[in-house]
Amino acid sequence: MVKLIWMSDLHFLAGDKTVAGHDPRIRLGAAVEHIGQHHSDARYCVISGDLVNEGNAADYRALKSHLNKLNIECLLMVGNHDDRGELGKVFERPYGAMPGFWQYYKPLDGGLFVFLDTLKPGFSAGEMCGERMAWLRDVLVANDHLPSYIFMHHPPMPLGLPMQDEIGLEQGAEFLSLIADFPNVKHLFLGHVHRPVAGSVGGVPFATMRSVLYQAPAPKPDWNWGTFAPAHEAPAYGVVQIESGNVTLQYTKFCQFELGYSPLR
Ligand SMILES: [Fe+2]
Repeated sequence: MVKLIWMSDLHFLAGDKTVAGHDPRIRLGAAVEHIGQHHSDARYCVISGDLVNEGNAADYRALKSHLNKLNIECLLMVGNHDDRGELGKVFERPYGAMPGFWQYYKPLDGGLFVFLDTLKPGFSAGEMCGERMAWLRDVLVANDHLPSYIFMHHPPMPLGLPMQDEIGLEQGAEFLSLIADFPNVKHLFLGHVHRPVAGSVGGVPFATMRSVLYQAPAPKPDWNWGTFAPAHEAPAYGVVQIESGNVTLQYTKFCQFELGYSPLR
């Protein structure tokens, strides 16, 4: 059995800056403390992009010192707020990462875990260029005997979240058509949307994750980026347990929405 912690969209900042009225250091600190109390036996902690808010090395450096308190090896991914070059100044590139990208895989306990890089620098939407798509196909072909789990920042399909759906993966249809050739792909884990959504696409189950920092509002009443204000909802991380191709995901609340940020026991 593999047990993973899954965090997403930390939007971390050093110093005393906040994002959408939320303090990323306090939020991440509360998550780290809660994980230490309840899930210190997890094998890895996957962080599915938007590691920092402004993509600079100083913030990655401060993030690193916070993550060190986890005592769980982190598997980092990039989102649209990240910068591959700045990230690489602070964190070691993952073993076997695709040249030029932060895209890699890890065989683990009889399964294959794939961590995609959907970053399109300068854009909120995501990209899987031909090069990254070809890499993915090669990895899936070489491991088609293993149940496979794909983590990616940008969702490859609309989720009924109008504002987020506009900035999903540009090559979503091509991506879904690619994985349709691989029945061993068992689950998609998606970041970016700052809301919890689960379902299936083309027969493949998927889940998104709340942000560790701030939550996007529900799609109704209508809102847009100009009027954006975070929802009054508590953050969460995921506890993912996988055994023999079967997946469970526990959405785990670690602090209240209110600014006291006292960790839950
Ligand atoms: Fe985000």
